[in-house]
Amino acid sequence: MKVLVATEKPFAAVAVDGIRKVIEEAGYELCLLEKYAAKADLLAAVADADALIVRSDKVDAEVFDAAKQLKIVVRAGAGYDNVDLAAATAHGVCVENTPGQNSNAVAELVFGMAVMAMRNMFDGTSGSELKEKSLGIHAFGQVGRNVARIAKGFGMEVSALDPFCPDEVMESAGVAPIHSVEDLYRNNRVVSLHIPATPETRGSVGFDLITLLPKGGLLINTARKEVIDEAGLSRALEARPDLKYVADIKPDNAAELEERFAGRVFFTPKKMGAQTSEANINAGIAAARQVVAFLKDGVDRFRVNK
Ligand code: 3PG
Repeated sequence: MKVLVATEKPFAAVAVDGIRKVIEEAGYELCLLEKYAAKADLLAAVADADALIVRSDKVDAEVFDAAKQLKIVVRAGAGYDNVDLAAATAHGVCVENTPGQNSNAVAELVFGMAVMAMRNMFDGTSGSELKEKSLGIHAFGQVGRNVARIAKGFGMEVSALDPFCPDEVMESAGVAPIHSVEDLYRNNRVVSLHIPATPETRGSVGFDLITLLPKGGLLINTARKEVIDEAGLSRALEARPDLKYVADIKPDNAAELEERFAGRVFFTPKKMGAQTSEANINAGIAAARQVVAFLKDGVDRFRVNK
């Protein structure tokens, strides 16, 4: 059996070593396709693969058509909006993710970006502290919960919105549940986005919500650029010169925003949230173990397609 690890943005070498160990100990062959520039490279490499491990790499119908032997795709990470689930199901391929494995890394980046933005991007002027500021967590999943834990250390007042999470779960973490998205934005100086990119959430955070933020408001997006209505964001930053937006991955209108709102926006050039050796090891090895469990015993606990 051949397991292909295809990562346009490679894992740390130590994580690749760990993945290799798990795959080879199971008696399988590991093939590595890193930093590939062209989709054709992925299509060629996947042709005889039985299993595929990816990160944010796009796995669409064309990839499934090319992968005649493929039985399982594991997205080593949380969000699986890069995988065409319908095409996978049509080809009889199981799709899994590795929830929680990289969430601390993303949560730590939230605070790296929060401190930077609150200190005016380190431009030498006096900024603000996070202590005693209100933080609203938009979706209380694995990343949101780590954000809440770290926010407590900063002395922030933390609340969260998540219709899929019972109030008691938030309350037991010392987080105040919020039940309307408008209240989340209206009541919090800092809002941190952790919603997945789905048909329902795409473009769902725009002018109306962003301009509800109180004076000096900061929106942090380490989720997906697609959840932002970029034209609405641009209008909000224009209408409210006190607001800031920082994001882990450039929006499509990054050049316009950087020019018009210099000092109030920051974007990582490549998605960096999960780019730590710890997260790479956790997610990569979990993915390798899930591949082996599926191929050997049909275990599909983390399956996300039907
Ligand atoms: C995720 O969904 O797990 C994160 O966005 C990390 O994505 P990455 O593996 O491409 O860094």
